[in-house]
Amino acid sequence: MDLQRDISLNMVRVTEVAALKASRWMGNGDKNNADKAAVDGMRGMMDLLDIKGRIVIGEGEKDEAPMLYIGEQVGSWGENAPEVDIAVDPIDGTRLVANGLPNALAVIAVGERNAIAYLPCFYVKKLAYGSKLRGFMDINCSIRENLKVAAAKLNKTVHELTVAILDRDRHKDYIKEIRECGARIKLITDGDVAAAIATCMEDGRIDLYLGIGGAPEAVLAAAAIRCMGGDLQVKLTPKDDQEMEKILTSGYDIDKVYFAKDLAKGENVVFACTGITDGDLLPGIKFTGQKAISHSLVMRNKTKTIRYIQAEHNLKYKTIPSKELKLETSI
Ligand code: FBP
Repeated sequence: MDLQRDISLNMVRVTEVAALKASRWMGNGDKNNADKAAVDGMRGMMDLLDIKGRIVIGEGEKDEAPMLYIGEQVGSWGENAPEVDIAVDPIDGTRLVANGLPNALAVIAVGERNAIAYLPCFYVKKLAYGSKLRGFMDINCSIRENLKVAAAKLNKTVHELTVAILDRDRHKDYIKEIRECGARIKLITDGDVAAAIATCMEDGRIDLYLGIGGAPEAVLAAAAIRCMGGDLQVKLTPKDDQEMEKILTSGYDIDKVYFAKDLAKGENVVFACTGITDGDLLPGIKFTGQKAISHSLVMRNKTKTIRYIQAEHNLKYKTIPSKELKLETSI
């Protein structure tokens, strides 16, 4: 059996449910309830799948996250079900959903056992780029140096490059350096999985994504970027002394550069996401009377096939499994 083939469409079902449920909370101002709805739907749908699934990186440690926590088992766990490791972000951009802003996605990545990396940090430093820059970027070099090389390889001037970066105080110096070099900047308020993926579209909208963002988002972006032939470099960035201690005592190397293939390993990696709010990558969920329309992206590393899936969900018939309520609910 080709595990990836079998699993790809099911993964889209999982992100569709998360997006459909989260989209009900769009603009409601309540990011926690939006997240809760997406988590519940995602988990309920995963449990219908015939897999022995294990969440490797997701909503957080068990004590802080009631569902989809690191180590949680999902799926049927039937005798002959394949063993898979999973990274999830039921909503990348909870604030975007709460405020009705663009670019929120429901995201999942799946691989064989031990294929998906766990990172012992809340934040990591990231540098993402498309296939033409593979082998030429270096997260340990200055931004100036990377921009110079990127411009040469992409046959552009530095002024024609566009760099996406989260609009955060911690990026003040990075933003200053990019501006001094003369490159264009796309400041994003949230949702760096979509920004990292956009570097691989190679349509000139975003050439590089860089900065410090969430660790699960890095692993998820790595899975997508591998399927698209680009690369992502990541370094652990402890947020405090306690995290630094955890990194050192658990044998991780603070100076190690992780590449996409280290975070989403092997041939058999599948990535899927569904738009919650309208975005650069995908349109968001729309309601048209009896129907909801979703747009998703699913990719396989083995074949590098990228599929866009538009689905019409008939709300009269569609039920969504709710793990929390232990029943099938309408969305
Ligand atoms: P969530 O919606 O999952 O909380 O993440 C949104 C996000 O913008 C990520 O895309 C990004 O990696 C991270 O938050 C950055 O963290 P912070 O908001 O703490 O700077």
